[in-house]
Amino acid sequence: MVFRDKFKNAEQAFTFNDVILLPGWTEIEPNQAIVKTRVTSKIELNVPYVSSPMDTVTEAEMAIAMARSGGIGILHRNCTAEEEVDMARAVKRAEAMIIRDVITVTPDTTVEELLKLMDEHHIKGFPVVRKNGKLSGIVTWRDVRLAEKQLKVKEVMTKKVVTGPENIDIEDAKKLLHKHKIEKLPIIDGSGRVTGLITMKDITFKGDYPDALRNSDGRLLVGAAVSPFDLERAKALDKYVDVIITDVAHFHNRNCFEATKKILKEVSAEVIVGSIGTYEAAVDCITKLDGIAGLRCGIGSGSICSTSIVTRAGAPTLYATSSAADAVKDYKANIGIIADGGLRNPGDAALALGIGATCVMMGNVFAGCSESPGRLVAMEGRYYKEYYGMGSARARKKRFVQDRYSQPSKAINEGVEGWVPFRGPVKDIINEFTGGLKAAMGYVGASNISEMWSNAKLAKITERGFQEISPHDIMMPGPNRNL
Ligand code: XMP
Repeated sequence: MVFRDKFKNAEQAFTFNDVILLPGWTEIEPNQAIVKTRVTSKIELNVPYVSSPMDTVTEAEMAIAMARSGGIGILHRNCTAEEEVDMARAVKRAEAMIIRDVITVTPDTTVEELLKLMDEHHIKGFPVVRKNGKLSGIVTWRDVRLAEKQLKVKEVMTKKVVTGPENIDIEDAKKLLHKHKIEKLPIIDGSGRVTGLITMKDITFKGDYPDALRNSDGRLLVGAAVSPFDLERAKALDKYVDVIITDVAHFHNRNCFEATKKILKEVSAEVIVGSIGTYEAAVDCITKLDGIAGLRCGIGSGSICSTSIVTRAGAPTLYATSSAADAVKDYKANIGIIADGGLRNPGDAALALGIGATCVMMGNVFAGCSESPGRLVAMEGRYYKEYYGMGSARARKKRFVQDRYSQPSKAINEGVEGWVPFRGPVKDIINEFTGGLKAAMGYVGASNISEMWSNAKLAKITERGFQEISPHDIMMPGPNRNL
């Protein structure tokens, strides 16, 4: 071994600000570009965006907003397994063609108890079901809002209930809801037992969110993060989520591989593994982990990461993504490639997709949205939301079962804490990103994501060149968040 060869053999780990997409011959207009893609072997996305599993980014509200916009949210694991399962259930309950796990009350439930249930489940009406499971009435907010608290449901409920049969289709259900001017239609089997519920709210949602990512039952898709060592959590989440992501900073590790093999065997959800940073890591994932559905690529590029500064180890997102994409191509693996960390604007997303990603994961961008769980704060007349790394002192203090950064062998923080500008609703940010991405696809001459992989050509730029391609020699009011 010659130590000096380590310099000679050093690869260039390019990242977002190092390169630029070259304009190419194009036959498409930006509005013709199609941004549909996939996140795993089986799950297609209508837009190529995934929200990070971080406790200032993705809880149920964010996951619902992401899926309604056509992307997907990955629930964080900085909480108990039960709390994470509850978040997943909330996403699944947000919309459904037919709700199957119907929450019901009995004729003897009191108005007081009913009001508590309404509060707890955010539901305004319940089918009233006798002990034998047969429908006896329906009770809604209107029936109880002025009623005495000690009254029983049977005294205030509507007894003549419009119902639908088991095999009802959505158009007939709509007609019944409209004809009888009702909000909820219980579905009953031949013996009068409640087997489902169709609501006006769910039907309206279908029209309001045409790009939403739903399964065949009309439920929104959602993913969840787990530690590779937390098999029990993975199994508990498996009933509710469509994809499980192993959430660990450096997945290319024997213990992580062995633990993930157990998860892969036990769960039916698709499993994305990561984070990884090199070609070798991607090859090992593909060849040693049977049945993986995707790779999460990028170590240390995140806006809140201090990993590469404190450890001098890392794999910038573009480098990690292109390395994984080559491995996926070389081994003909049919899996998703998620570019994760460091994206600030649609151009970064275009670069990641041009270098082989099937979709991009963002924390910073979504942390600023209305639907993120972070606190909204006002500073000097502007609004911000709090955002911190999952390896920051703040996140590590929180109680959780398996932490990807606070293993005993890691006595240091690998993330920072702060605020990001408030950006408004997720759907507006996604529209903005998709507009920018389509414009980039127009420059590249790519009508879809796979043409981005084949047609995108890069040029390297210098630091001074980067200054020139950024707006310059002008005073701009306020922080320009897209730069
Ligand atoms: P952005 O740039 O979107 O990146 O804010 C989000 C991604 O950063 C990763 N992440 C961390 N990496 N220390 C790290 O080194 C941390 O504390 C940390 N927290 C999150 C993660 O991959 C996320 O998706």
